[in-house]
Order: sequence, then structure tokens, then C-alpha cells
Amino acid sequence: MKLSDINIYKCPVCHSDFLRVKTSQNDIVKTGELTCINKHTFSISKGIPDFTWPKELASVDKETKRLYDKLAKEYEKFANIPFQTFFANEEDVREKMTAKLNLQSNSKVLEIGGGDGRGAQHIVKRLNSEGHLFFQELSPAFLNRAIDRLKEYKNFISYSIANASYLSFNDNYFDSAIHFGGINTFSEVKRCLKELARVVKPGGKILIGDEGIGPWLRNTEFGKIMINSNPLIGYNVPFELLPLEARDVKVEWIMMGAFFLIEFTVGEGEPKANYHIPIPSERGGTHWSRYHGQLEGITDETKKLAHKARKKLGKGMSEWLDDVIKRAAQNQLK
Ligand SMILES: C[S@@+](CC[C@H](N)C(=O)[O-])C[C@H]1O[C@@H](n2cnc3c(N)ncnc32)[C@H](O)[C@@H]1O
Repeated sequence: MKLSDINIYKCPVCHSDFLRVKTSQNDIVKTGELTCINKHTFSISKGIPDFTWPKELASVDKETKRLYDKLAKEYEKFANIPFQTFFANEEDVREKMTAKLNLQSNSKVLEIGGGDGRGAQHIVKRLNSEGHLFFQELSPAFLNRAIDRLKEYKNFISYSIANASYLSFNDNYFDSAIHFGGINTFSEVKRCLKELARVVKPGGKILIGDEGIGPWLRNTEFGKIMINSNPLIGYNVPFELLPLEARDVKVEWIMMGAFFLIEFTVGEGEPKANYHIPIPSERGGTHWSRYHGQLEGITDETKKLAHKARKKLGKGMSEWLDDVIKRAAQNQLK
């Protein structure tokens, strides 16, 4: 880890600054400890900080980590099988995915669950010395393979071990973030997506992809065969887990419809609308007054009379009610 990265990394628990690195050698920290203002401590070993949080992972994440650590050596045998299965060229798929991020040569990019770095190659080749990739992975064994694969780009990349649902960065730090292939099994998908929206700046792009068959294919022979072989293909696209900051959301099913890609731009807070446009109709009012201005129920008879009266005056119900109630209340409060 470069000593200067201490200014960029934040505590994944409380997002506060790291105060100190214990045991650093010049500009490169090989081993040591990062401690934040609130005394959360993370180790650095063989030059890689380990931000994994919670320290005791949820059982599904613990199991994933164990599995990937075991699989790392042999992963080359399996990695291309999904692409071959769906007659796709892996490099083309990854190139098209990366292009969706609209990276500039100076972009700051985050890849989570980056595996053995096969996707990261397509990111780093787009960057110059002003750009940077922060590459995170839960499995140390996979991370080591990525470091090896990407060694020619080492000046553009900072590596860390982390659970992608607890990110070790400040709000709004990145221009974009990407993940492919693992989110279905994360224990806290909603939290992970919210974290991505937190660390990517407004206007930045987030791209997420994983197995998840198009709903129209689920009951076809194709769907049944593929879900039988790999149950993850039967997963639903996690639309309802997207953060409220997601804008211009696009979904695409790739690889014959067996994998989804969700792409969105990060907005600020909830979407906004012009709630206060007067709506010229019998109901009348505005979006705002229709929702916030509701009163207790009245009898049918009163409602009919009210409609007659507002019609006679040529008013929308909302305006008529507002006027009548206001006058009645003012009179009674005299
Ligand atoms: C199928 S691999 C895909 C790797 C890579 N993204 C790619 O496109 O080849 C899924 C990766 O997600 C990682 N992963 C699983 N759960 C994670 C979590 N909670 N946080 C971060 N990474 C995780 C795994 O360790 C594994 O490397």
C-alpha cells in the first residue's frame, strides 16, 4: 500500500479518517495497522490493507470467501465456461461493459469483487497516470492473482481486501464503479448498492452484472436447463434493492438472456418533481396538496353537496375545499 493512500481510504465502519499507520517503510507500507479516529483497526499485510467488515463475516460471505480462496488456483479452468456456454466472447462482453462507464483517462474507478483481475484489464488500459483504479476483493487468494495479472499497471491500481457492502472510501470520491459476477451471493446486496451510490459522485456511473435470467425465458427449455445446471441463473434482477439515488436506470440481458447488466447514474437523494403545478381538473389541487392536504372523511351526503357547490362556482374540489375550510376555521377561531 502506498503511504499516500491513507488520505483516500476511510474507515469502512464510520467513514472517518485513518489517523496513523503503524510500521511503515518509506512510501510503501508492507505491514502495519490502520487505525481510525474511532479506534477501528485494520491490518496491512504483504502491502495489502484488509478492510473486511464485519470482522466476523455473515456466514454466506464467510463461505464465499472460503470457496473462492480454494478455487483461486484452478479458476482459469472455469472462468470462461459461462461465456462459451452462451456463444459469447469474454473479451467482447467485458469491453462492452467497461465502455458503458464512459471512462476518461483521468477517471477514478472502483471495482468491487474484482476476482482475478480479468475485468480490470479493460479499465486500466483506458487510464493515464492521472486516473486510478481501486480494486477490492473479498478473497485474498483471488486478489493475489489479480495483482499478478495486472502487474504492468501497478502504478494505476490500489488493491485492498474488503467486503463490498462496507466500502473504505469517502462519499463522492469515484467517477464510476463496476462489479460483475458475484453480487447474487453477497449477504447484503441492498447495502452494497447503497454504498456504491455513496462513494460515486453525483453524475457518476455504476454498472452491476450477474446471473439472472430474463423473466420471459424462465420457463423455456433453455431456462430450465440453465437454471438446473447453475441455480444462480434463476435469480431475479435486484430492482427493488437499487438505491433511491439511482437515475436513468437501464437493464440489459446479455449472454442469450442469462445474465443481467444494470447501469445507472448517481443522483442526489430522492428523485424530485414539480409537486406544486395546479392540476386543472374536477379533483383539482396539486400533487402536493392531494397527498399532504387530506382531511378526515366526510359523509356521502356532504360529499355530493360539496361537488354541487364547487361545480356551481367552477372550481376544482381541492381549491373549493381549501377555501371553504379556511374560511370556516378562521370564523371559528375569531
Ligand atoms: C464469479 S467471481 C467474479 C470475479 C470478477 N468480478 C469477474 O468478473 O471475473 C465473484 C467474485 O466476487 C467476490 N465476492 C463475493 N462476495 C463478496 C463480497 N461480499 N465482497 C467483495 N467481493 C465478494 C468473490 O471473492 C469473487 O472473486
